[in-house]
Amino acid sequence: MSEWIKACNSKQLPEGDLFGFTYDEKKILIANIKGKIHATDLICTHADADLSTGFLSDEGVRCPLHLSVFNLDNGCPQNLPAETPLTVYNVKIDADEIYVEV
Ligand code: FES
Repeated sequence: MSEWIKACNSKQLPEGDLFGFTYDEKKILIANIKGKIHATDLICTHADADLSTGFLSDEGVRCPLHLSVFNLDNGCPQNLPAETPLTVYNVKIDADEIYVEV
């Protein structure tokens, strides 16, 4: 069964910013691309890299370790070496707080 968890206040996440946090065992990435908020897995599917330390562009987030770019709408890697998509989570904003469905 899924539940909505609070990630952060939207004012903490200006456009172009990344934010990572842990909830229970889950590690989640929040990203703001041109005002659209995305939530995916925080850890790259290729190896153990924290994507919140990567680079955000209109194409998605670029892994800091081997530079695969993940589309944040569907989680799919756009280039090797990563081949497995990130899990994408539903997001909602309520009273300036960002919530993720896990
Ligand atoms: S760890 Fe992310 S592409 Fe290798």
